[in-house]
Amino acid sequence: MPQTVLVTGGAGFIGSHTCVELLRSGHEVVVLDDHSNSSPEALERVAKIAGRPIAAAHTADVRDRRALDAVFSAHPIDAVVHFAAKKAVGESVRIPLAYYDINVGGTTALASAMHAHGVHRLVFSSSCSVYGDATVVPLTEQSPTAPTNPYAATKLTCERILADLCRHVPELRVLALRYFNPAGAHPSGLLGEDPSGVPGNLMPFLAQIAVGRREELSVFGDDYATPDGTGVRDYIHVVDVAEGHVAALGHLDDAPGLQIFNLGTGRGSSVLELAHAFEQASGRPIPHRIAPRRPGDVAELVADPAKVEAAWGWTARRDVTAMCRDAWNFQRNNPYGYAP
Ligand code: NAD
Ligand code: WQD
Repeated sequence: MPQTVLVTGGAGFIGSHTCVELLRSGHEVVVLDDHSNSSPEALERVAKIAGRPIAAAHTADVRDRRALDAVFSAHPIDAVVHFAAKKAVGESVRIPLAYYDINVGGTTALASAMHAHGVHRLVFSSSCSVYGDATVVPLTEQSPTAPTNPYAATKLTCERILADLCRHVPELRVLALRYFNPAGAHPSGLLGEDPSGVPGNLMPFLAQIAVGRREELSVFGDDYATPDGTGVRDYIHVVDVAEGHVAALGHLDDAPGLQIFNLGTGRGSSVLELAHAFEQASGRPIPHRIAPRRPGDVAELVADPAKVEAAWGWTARRDVTAMCRDAWNFQRNNPYGYAP
């Protein structure tokens, strides 16, 4: 059944790919984004890939209640996918209040506006970072949560607020999706990850080395208790994550209250394995040196994706080779991202 979906943060990395898959699945898409970390150009490209435009793009802060009221009054919203947030772990340690303000304040403003306008279906972007320094992998949704930085704490706080709200609003249905490490780009080469400044994440850093913007990779630690000593993560193709959101929309009504699902592949890759895969995909050398561990990093984070597969029949279909190929294709075609 086609739905009209409000996508907050829809011009961002995961949001833009999700808009494509929503449009391709026949849904109408309304975007709200303040473009604090994205370009409106991404939405032009979404329309180009999908072959049709989104219904409307509103440039506004998700904390702006008046703007939210205007959006809910203007469109018959059936469901909301809430991506809009700040996501840099290191920055969150430096400016924690901004993270609480935007990530938690944005979510409460949105939930309040949804309630006022009778919209009761929400997909919320959570993060594997809520698990903290995992001692047992793979991680199930039952694994203990222990955020190790303010960013992760804001995500867990939002989950708890939404769970509390569900206890008081019986019509409310929330799916909190804990993504592991989204990576890659759209295979068209039109959409991808375009971080401002020095990339904090591994995959965009590799892409910028391959395209000649950076000299070498600092491998943050080779003395972890992992097969090659470098950190292991569950990288998941951003198009798989996007498709996961389309699947989620079809399952919002399965159960009342808040349900939590991991979105991961169940397969881990080390830093050196990913660097090697990127060399293969790009045909460019990735020089690296071993650097000290990055504060706050953990040895291994890998999802147990069994719950979501059992509930929705959804699994991630693309592997690390596809992620590197598509990230490279985007970087090669857009060496400076969406900048003209
Ligand atoms: P992104 O920064 O590319 O996208 C976020 C979008 O939200 C951007 O377009 C930004 O301009 C917008 N935005 C930020 N603050 C806003 C505000 N106050 N009002 C309106 N718009 C605002 O990030 P992403 O990687 O696409 O992440 C999307 C969501 O997924 C975030 O909630 C993030 O925390 C979560 N997440 C991301 C990852 C990851 O590794 N990328 C992993 C787990 C969870
Ligand atoms: C991956 C691996 C690094 C850069 C973060 C957030 C998490 C989620 C995903 C939002 C680690 C190593 C990295 C570099 C390196 N985001 N690395 N050199 O830290 O697993 O997760 O993004 O929710 O919340 O914490 O991802 O890509 O930064 O790092 O050696 O220059 O690559 O140490 O082992 P991370 P990442």
